[in-house]
Amino acid sequence: RLEVQVDQPGIAVSRSLYGIFFEEINSAGDGGVYAELVRNRSFEEPGWTNHWVPVTSGSAQGAWEITLGSFSSTNNQRALRLEHRGGSGEVGVANEGWFGMGIREGETYVLRVRLRAASGFTGPLLVRLEPASGGYAVASGLLYGLGSEWRDYELELRASRTEPRAQLVLALPSAGTVWLDYVSLFPLQTWNARTNGLRHDLMARLADLHPAFVRFPGGCWVEGEWLTNAYRWKDTIGPPPDRVTRWNLWGYWSPNGLGFLEYLLMCRDLGAEPLFVVNCGMSHREVVPMAEMDAWVQDALDAVEFANGPVTSRWGSVRAALGYPEPFGLKYLQIGNENGGSAYNERYALFYDALKARYPDIQLVACDWGGLPVSRPVEISDEHYYNAPRFFLANARKYDFYPRNGPRIFVGEYAVTSGAGNGNLMGALAEAAFMTGLERNSDVVVMASYAPLLARLENKAWNPDLIYFDATTHVLTPSYHVQRMFARNRPDRLLPAVLSWQGLAPPGTIPPRGAIGLGSWNTRVEYADVTVRQGTNVLYASDFARGASEWRVYRGQWSVMNGVYRQDALIVDCRSVTGETTWSNYTLTLRARKLGGQ
Ligand code: AHR
Repeated sequence: RLEVQVDQPGIAVSRSLYGIFFEEINSAGDGGVYAELVRNRSFEEPGWTNHWVPVTSGSAQGAWEITLGSFSSTNNQRALRLEHRGGSGEVGVANEGWFGMGIREGETYVLRVRLRAASGFTGPLLVRLEPASGGYAVASGLLYGLGSEWRDYELELRASRTEPRAQLVLALPSAGTVWLDYVSLFPLQTWNARTNGLRHDLMARLADLHPAFVRFPGGCWVEGEWLTNAYRWKDTIGPPPDRVTRWNLWGYWSPNGLGFLEYLLMCRDLGAEPLFVVNCGMSHREVVPMAEMDAWVQDALDAVEFANGPVTSRWGSVRAALGYPEPFGLKYLQIGNENGGSAYNERYALFYDALKARYPDIQLVACDWGGLPVSRPVEISDEHYYNAPRFFLANARKYDFYPRNGPRIFVGEYAVTSGAGNGNLMGALAEAAFMTGLERNSDVVVMASYAPLLARLENKAWNPDLIYFDATTHVLTPSYHVQRMFARNRPDRLLPAVLSWQGLAPPGTIPPRGAIGLGSWNTRVEYADVTVRQGTNVLYASDFARGASEWRVYRGQWSVMNGVYRQDALIVDCRSVTGETTWSNYTLTLRARKLGGQ
């Protein structure tokens, strides 16, 4: 009998339950949603030949050289000196883009170039989009009137046909010299028609997920392998040619074109709350000494001021000067990503104190990475789960047993990662089962986001992902449809429902079974015990932590090593123990207290 208790208040389901986690991984942004088509656009990657090649034709003689010193911005120190030394034909450079530029017939593309010419040389500079494999141009134009001072030039190119793997060529058709400092190409049509904007087709898919929030920009991208490549938001604002470029531990250089402001705009355009993750002074391999933490804490305070401060505040005025006087209303800030241990505990307190003193209303998210920090209160705890389908099935009831007086839970990253191929139905179903548990317990689980969100097929560092794409097309996984279905059908209130058997259970009725999710590995539990009652009579009681194991424990890997349970769930099935067949009026109680682990 299924009884829906309409006379009970039930629980209010968190409005922010279903969101997305956008990390700069797999070219999700660079070479992905960020619509820039040129790769290594400011020649800052070591060795200018990264993604650029020299081009000549006919008898033309040329020279190509990276120059330092003759630059137009302090963050963008390198320029390419391009010289046509005579002869007939072109001397130029071609950019391959991110695995080829996807050009569509009839679309307009906007070229922005920062350059200077040798004194007395006024051009022209020939600009062309052509198939990477050779053949006729799909669009072309000429820049005239070049000057000897650094200047920005703009040119619109209209594509006469579709070319999924195009390259951009800039060439001098006659003798002369130019220094190229920055070369950028965007489709004119971006999401919400923003300059320095986002790819339309991919944004439409994100919008279709109805995300309540966007957690950004990582992930490990926030931490960096080393502190020199940790994410620093102040390097990501201001005119795109002047931004600091940074090595991404996922295997590529980021121009930081999709910067803090662009992320905030992305959230605004999606109608989603921003959840910004700041580096807490910890990379994968280094930790900022406590005595030097001020700058990192200040970055977090300034990030909130940039997003929310009045135009009269220091960082609010920077935002206003960039064209956005209206505050963004940032409500959530996460301190670190997958950081834990005593180093995190100490640093968490610094951020907590400074942020709460200045912005008491901001909701702080703490990492649950082998345990939560105890130095200060935790408001929202971020848990991550990457595992097999059976883990998610077994943990569909995980949060039924969570304390209601502890921190609220944000399942900030989760996905079936083994046996899931590039995303399959089994994985999606297991995630869906898990999500029913999130929703049923949404009085405590207030936010959740699948990870990772996007992957460029040619630059995949992680598998599976929710959406795969290349230069012009994209594919949605079964998990995408699960996310979409849940988010678009989120209830406001959930009433309790009880499934019960009356009288003798028919043969084959499921005997008492239960599961407690304990984490993914190396979970430490203080105790785990099992009780079976018939009515009020206790028939069996066992205590696994003390080694009694007459109960059949699934998964076969139940082992206790100094209190460390090397498995992710306590799963008990009473069948094998009693030989019972009727199983009426029995209850099974499982209890475990988790001390730490992942
Ligand atoms: O989602 C991919 C990675 O998984 C994230 O960068 C990190 O937070 C986690 O380990």
